[in-house]
Order: sequence, then C-alpha cells, then structure tokens
Amino acid sequence: MLVAGNWKMNGSQAMVRALLPSLAGEIAGIGVDVVVCPPFPYLSLAVECLAGSVLGVGAQDMHPAPCGAHTGEVSAQMLLDVGCNWVILGHSERRAGNGEDDLAVARKTRTALAAGLSPIVCVGETLEQREAGRTFDVVAAQLSAVLEGAGPERAASLVLAYEPVWAIGTGLTASPEQAQEVHSRLRQQAEAFAPDAGRSLRVLYGGSVKAANAAALFAMPDIDGGLIGGASLDAGEFAAICRAAEGRSWNS
Ligand code: PGA
Repeated sequence: MLVAGNWKMNGSQAMVRALLPSLAGEIAGIGVDVVVCPPFPYLSLAVECLAGSVLGVGAQDMHPAPCGAHTGEVSAQMLLDVGCNWVILGHSERRAGNGEDDLAVARKTRTALAAGLSPIVCVGETLEQREAGRTFDVVAAQLSAVLEGAGPERAASLVLAYEPVWAIGTGLTASPEQAQEVHSRLRQQAEAFAPDAGRSLRVLYGGSVKAANAAALFAMPDIDGGLIGGASLDAGEFAAICRAAEGRSWNS
C-alpha cells in the first residue's frame, strides 16, 4: 500500500516545518509507503525535515528533457539532486490547465523512469465522459499512452492513480465499487501489456479521500492506496488515512 499527499499550490516554509515532523512522528513505524508532494520551492526543506524518517518526498510535475532552454521548468535530475524520489505526472489539473496531453505525460513518464524517479501517473474521466458511458475508453487511452511511454521493461515500476475528475476537491467520492471496477480494468490492461506490470503495479485512488471514507476504499482488492489532496494538508487527517491503508496491509 502507498499513500501520497498532493499539496498542490498550498503550503509555506512554516507549514513544512510544522506539519512534516508531526506527521513523521504520528506514523513512525507504519507498514505502508508514505510520500508527501509539496510545491517545488519546499522540496529541499521537506527532505531536510524528514531526514531519518521513512517518508518519501515527491514533486508534482517535471519536464521531460534533461536540461536546457526550458524557462520555468524543473528536470528529473534536479528532483533527484534535492533528495526527491517520486513525482506526480499527468494530474488532471495539469492536463486541463496546462495543456498536457497523453503524449506529454508519456514522455515525462519515460524520462522519470529512466532517471530512477518513481512516477505516480494520474488518469481519470470527467463527469461528462462518465455520464456518456465513456469512462473505460477514456482511462484506457490515457493508460495506453503511459504504458507506451514506460515500455514493457519498466512498466512494472509505475504507480498509477485513478482520479475521477468529478471527485477531485468536490467532496464527491467514487464509491468503492465504482473505483474497484476501474482499477481492475487498469490492472488487466497493464497485465496485457507486460505481465510483470499487471502483478506489481500499484493503483492508487484519488478524489476526496478522507479519514472517514479511506478504509472502505482501501478494502477493495485492486485499490493499493490513495493520492490525497485536501486531506493531506492536515497531519492528523493524513496520518489517519495512512493508518487505514495499514489496516488493509495487515488484512491482505
Ligand atoms: P482531493 O485531491 O483529495 O482534494 O480531492 C486529490 C488530487 O487531486 O490528487
């Protein structure tokens, strides 16, 4: 199980200094992987505040090129250089707000894996697409690009996050059954692409996960953890979600 916190464009140095040591204390010794993804300017400080803890630090995006004339961008090597081992890619807010298409997400995935970063790649349908009965087609097309980007030899190292766009920040959560249905399809598709990938792939659920609904979601067989937005900004709430994931680890 893996629980990742996506801070989005929230936080401050003061918040990193207050929240992360308290979170590390609350979940010391927990039997699940936990990653926090603050904004770029706070990554080094987050790594420093979490020294000696098992929590990982991730970025929320990166550029697919190794270096060069890309004003405002950050490379995979730079993330590794500051002690960051994870990166969220293809979040729906970047797809919608920054024009990221499947090809761009595939390129970033390839670069991240080749550099040795662990990418958490997001897929998910809009409400309109769900209501039109296109959920599986939409996520299958998104995953297909990601798998091509990863290649069969590296696909097993991917982490996917299924995040229905209509559930992000809205308080509406996919029901555990709705999420399970999509997760299971994603796993089958990955398995058809590379049998290893299907078995070892972790598929997180994201979209209004809170302490109150986490255990029911994590009880589903193909939900391997969560990508948590709003609720990751509160150490107590986020720690409770991590403990819900640990409960599932013990039961499986
Ligand atoms: P949310 O965001 O938990 O605030 O809905 C999840 C995400 O966008 O990763």
